Parts: sequence; C-alpha cells; structure tokens
Amino acid sequence: LIASMDEVEETYIMVKPDGVQRGLVGEIISRFEKKGFKLTGLKLFQCPKELAEEHYKDLQAKPFFPKLIQYITSGPVVCMAWEGVGVVASARKLIGATNPLQAEPGTIRGDLAVQTGRNVIHGSDSPENGKREIGLWFKEGEVCSWAPVQEPWLR
Ligand code: PPS
Repeated sequence: LIASMDEVEETYIMVKPDGVQRGLVGEIISRFEKKGFKLTGLKLFQCPKELAEEHYKDLQAKPFFPKLIQYITSGPVVCMAWEGVGVVASARKLIGATNPLQAEPGTIRGDLAVQTGRNVIHGSDSPENGKREIGLWFKEGEVCSWAPVQEPWLR
C-alpha cells in the first residue's frame, strides 16, 4: 500500500551543543537516513538567546528554563529539517524518552546520553510544532524539498 501524500510531514530535529562537541552529528544523521526519511534542511548554527527563548517559550515557567537556555546557547547546534510519512512521531521514537536513563536501548538518547539536561537532541512534538520550529530556525530558501532523479548514480 502506498501512503497518500497528505501523510507526509516535516519535523525539526536539532543536535544540541553536547551532541556536536561529542562528535555525534554523523551518527545521528545516519539513523534518520537509514530509517528512510528525507533531509531537507541542514546547518551548523550558534543560537542567539532570543531564539532559544522563543523556541522553548512554552517552558518559560519551568524551574529549569534558564539552565535550558544556557545549555542550548552554550555552543553551536546542528539544525535539521526532515520530511517523510509520519516523521514527527517516528523521530520521537528514534530519539527516545526525555530522560536518557528512561530511554530504551536502541534509541538515540538510550544509546548515547545520560542526563536530561544533556540529552543530545531535540525533535518537534507535533506536526504543527514541526512547521513552527522549521520556520523559526531556517530562513526562506534554506529548506529544500527535493525528489531523487531517475538515472542511476553508480553503474
Ligand atoms: S515538561 O516539563 O513535561 O514540559 O518537559 P518535557 O516535555 O519532558 O521537556 C520539554 C523540554 O525541556 C527539556 N527539559 C529539561 N532541560 C533541562 N533540565 C531539565 N530538568 C529538563 N526537563 C526537561 C527537555 O529536554 C525538552 O527539550 P527538548 O529540546 O524538546 O528535548
């Protein structure tokens, strides 16, 4: 059965500063590629405080908010947009639980992280937030939806 086009979603995935500095960017991209999703946006970026606050604005009242902002702005992040059928929920499964000690082995956090405040990666929690966050982190023209060409690249 071929999934209908309206099930194609987009999600915002971000390797956090600890993931970048621990050299986990390639491993993380690889997991999404191997799953079968399509990369439509990618950049290394030093996030300004204002953008971090806007991205996490729903968490403003949480006691950990200042620490979260400090963590996300402490070094460059890798911003990604991924496209695919059911990509929002599937990415959350690949990522694993927020607390890495509760994340299942086989998930990114379950395999690669220990602390909630150092949990390596972010993924949008709904298709609406996927669109909102891609709009927040990428400028016009930085995201491109593409289709593979028909000719074989290798013979
Ligand atoms: S909550 O409290 O239920 O809204 O939190 P949750 O949805 O699990 O997580 C929302 C984001 O906040 C991050 N988080 C934390 N950061 C630092 N310290 C602590 N204690 C903490 N608790 C939650 C969590 O990783 C989520 O960020 P993202 O970037 O989406 O992973």
